[in-house]
Amino acid sequence: MPKFLGVEWVDIFSSIERKKTYFGVVYHFIITYPFGLLVTILPFFLLFTFQWHILAIYACWYLYDINSPKRGGYASEWVRRWRVNDWFAQYFPINLHKTAELSPDHNYLVGCHPHGIIAMAAWANFATNGTGIYEKFPSIRWNLCTLALNFKMAIRRELLLLTGLIDCSRESIEYVLDKSGEKGRAVVLVIGGAEEALDAHPGYHVLTLASRKGFVREALLTGAHLVPVYSFGENDVFEQMDNPIGSKLRNFQNWSKRIFGISYPIFHGRGFLQMTFGYLPFRKPIDTVVGAPITVEKVENPTKEQIDELHSIYIQKLTELFEEHKGRFGVEKDVKLVLK
Ligand SMILES: *[C@@H]1O[C@H](CO)[C@@H](O)[C@H](O)[C@H]1NC(C)=O
Ligand SMILES: *[C@@H]1O[C@H](CO)[C@@H](O)[C@H](O)[C@H]1NC(C)=O
Repeated sequence: MPKFLGVEWVDIFSSIERKKTYFGVVYHFIITYPFGLLVTILPFFLLFTFQWHILAIYACWYLYDINSPKRGGYASEWVRRWRVNDWFAQYFPINLHKTAELSPDHNYLVGCHPHGIIAMAAWANFATNGTGIYEKFPSIRWNLCTLALNFKMAIRRELLLLTGLIDCSRESIEYVLDKSGEKGRAVVLVIGGAEEALDAHPGYHVLTLASRKGFVREALLTGAHLVPVYSFGENDVFEQMDNPIGSKLRNFQNWSKRIFGISYPIFHGRGFLQMTFGYLPFRKPIDTVVGAPITVEKVENPTKEQIDELHSIYIQKLTELFEEHKGRFGVEKDVKLVLK
C-alpha cells in the first residue's frame, strides 16, 4: 500500500476484484449513516419545496405498511442476492461455517455473538447471501432482528424489510416463530446488543449474556429450537477507545445508557481514502460458526426454573462451540469466553 506523508493511502492500482469489495463496504456504510440522515431530512425538504403530494402518497403507503416489521417483513431473495452483498462479505472476508443441519420441520431462534461495534457478521451471513446461506441452509428462511427505530426512516425501512430484517420486539418474534404457523423459519437475534458493543475491543471475547434471558423465554413460548452462533474476529474490525469498568468514560457511557437508553462506543476504523482513521471497518477476517440446534419443547407459561435451566444449557453449548473452534480462528489456548 502506498505511503505518503506518513499515512497509508488507498491503493488506486489495486485489482478490480479488490475495488469491488471496497465498494461493497462503502455502499453498506453509506446506507447505514449518511443515507439514514438524508431520509430523515427528506420529508421536511419535500414539505418546504411544496412537493407535499409526493409526501402524501408515501404517507399512505407508510401507514398501510406500518405493521410489516412486526409481521415477518417481506424478504426478497433478489435483494438478498445483490452482488454488492457478496462484495461486502469478501472485503473482510466473512465466512460462514456450518456444524450441523437445520431441519425444515422446526423453527429456530438464533443467538449471534458477539455484537461487535456494528454487527457486521450478522448482516453479511443472515441478511444477505454474501456468504452463501442459500446453499448451506437451503430450506430455512432467515430474519435478522433490529431496533424498531430503523423502521421509522422512509425508503431505508423498505430496503431493510426487503433484506429480511424485522423488529426485535417480542410481538414480532412470536409472530414469525409461532403465530405465522410456518416451519423452517429462523429469527436471528444479536443478543448482547448495544451494551456488548462497549466490550468490543480487538482480541476480547466478552459477552453480555449472563443477565439476558428474554430470548430463552421466547424460545420456550414458541417452541423454537435455540441455535448458538459465534463470530470469531467480529471484535477485531474496529478499534475502540479504552473504557474498562470503573473508568470515567465507562461511567459516562453507563449513565447515558440509563438516561437516554443509548451508550455509544468511541470507535474508529479506516477512512475512505486512507488506512489510518475513519469509520469504515479494517480488512480483517471474520469466521462465523453456526452451532447445532438445542431442542426446545413449547411451554405455555414458562417458570423461572425452566428459563434458568435452558439458559444454562445454552451457555454451555455456546461455550463448547467457542472452545471447539477457537484454535482454528487464531484465539490463544488460554483465552476463555467471559460472560457478564
Ligand atoms: C449464494 O452464495 C453462494 C456463495 O457465494 C453462491 O454460490 C450461490 O450461487 C448464491 N445463491 C443464490 C441463490 O444466489
Ligand atoms: C452501571 O450503573 C449501574 C447502576 O448505577 C451499576 O449497577 C452497574 O454496575 C454499572 N455498570 C458499569 C459497567 O459500570
